[in-house]
Amino acid sequence: MGGLVEGKRLLVTGVITDQSIAFSVARLAQEQGATVVLTGFGRLTLVERIARRLPDPPPIIELDVTNAEHLEGLADKIREHVDGIDGVVHSIGFAPASCLGGGFLDAPWDDVATALHVSTYSYKSLATACLPLMSPGGAVVGLTFDATKAWPVYDWMGVAKAGLESCNRYLAKYLGTKGIRTNLVAAGPLRTMAARSIPGFDRFEDAWVEKAPLGWNLTDQEPAARACLALMSEWFPATTGEIVHVDGGFHALGV
Ligand SMILES: NC(=O)c1ccc[n+]([C@@H]2O[C@H](COP(=O)([O-])OP(=O)(O)OC[C@H]3O[C@@H](n4cnc5c(N)ncnc54)[C@H](O)[C@@H]3O)[C@@H](O)[C@H]2O)c1
Repeated sequence: MGGLVEGKRLLVTGVITDQSIAFSVARLAQEQGATVVLTGFGRLTLVERIARRLPDPPPIIELDVTNAEHLEGLADKIREHVDGIDGVVHSIGFAPASCLGGGFLDAPWDDVATALHVSTYSYKSLATACLPLMSPGGAVVGLTFDATKAWPVYDWMGVAKAGLESCNRYLAKYLGTKGIRTNLVAAGPLRTMAARSIPGFDRFEDAWVEKAPLGWNLTDQEPAARACLALMSEWFPATTGEIVHVDGGFHALGV
C-alpha cells in the first residue's frame, strides 16, 4: 500500500531546528512517499545542516515571506526541482519581543505590523506565490494556536493568529474556485525555538499537561505533523476553511 501522500510534491516552510513542527512534517512526508522541497529563512547553513537529518535531504530555497522579490521568484525556484506543487505547508510565525509577554498595551505599531506581516499576511502571500504551480486537488496548510481566546503572555501573537484563522477562511473562499483547499492545524504548546521566544510560555505547558483530556506531550511534534499531512492527503477532499485541533482535547473543556 502506498503512503498517505505518495507521489505528492510538497513545499514545506519553517524548518529551523529538528524540533520545528515543519521538520516533523518533512520527515513524515518523505516516509509517506512525498517529494519535499524546503524553504529556509535567514540562517540557511543551519537549515541545510538540519535538513541533512531528514531521510532524503531535500533542496532548500531561500524565502523571507516579507520579501517581495523572494515571493515573486519563488515559483521559478521551485520549478528547478519539481514541475508542480500538490501541497504547501506554512509553518511560520514571528513577533518582536515587545508584542509578547505582557506588554500588550505598549507594543508599538511597527512591531505589531511586523508580527502581522510575518505571521498572518504571509499565509496569503505564500499561497499566491505558489498558485502558478498548483492545480485542482492541491492544498495549503498552516499552524495556529487557538485564537478564540485571550491567553496570558501570547498578546499580539494571539491577535496575529486570530487574523491567520480569518485569512484561512477567506483563502478557502478565493482558492476554492480553483479546487484548492486551505486548512489550519491548531496545535497545543510544543517546545520549539518560536515557543522558547515567548516569556512565560511555561504557563501554557503546565495548563496543557494538567488539563488536556488525552494528556499532552510538549516535545512530540508528530501529532501536529500527522494532521498537516492528513489535510494535504486525499482523505479530506471536501474540507476547507477548517481548523483541526491537535491539542489533546484541551480546547473542548471549560475550566
Ligand atoms: N510551538 C508551539 O507551541 C506552537 C503551537 C501552535 C502553533 N505553532 C505555530 O507553528 C508554526 C511553526 O512554529 P514552530 O513552533 O515549529 O517554531 P520554529 O521556531 O521551529 O518555526 C518558526 C519558523 O518561522 C520561520 N520564520 C520566521 N520569520 C520568517 C520570515 N520572515 N520568513 C520565513 N520564515 C520565517 C523561522 O525561520 C522558523 O523556521 C508557527 O506558525 C507557530 O506559531 C506553534
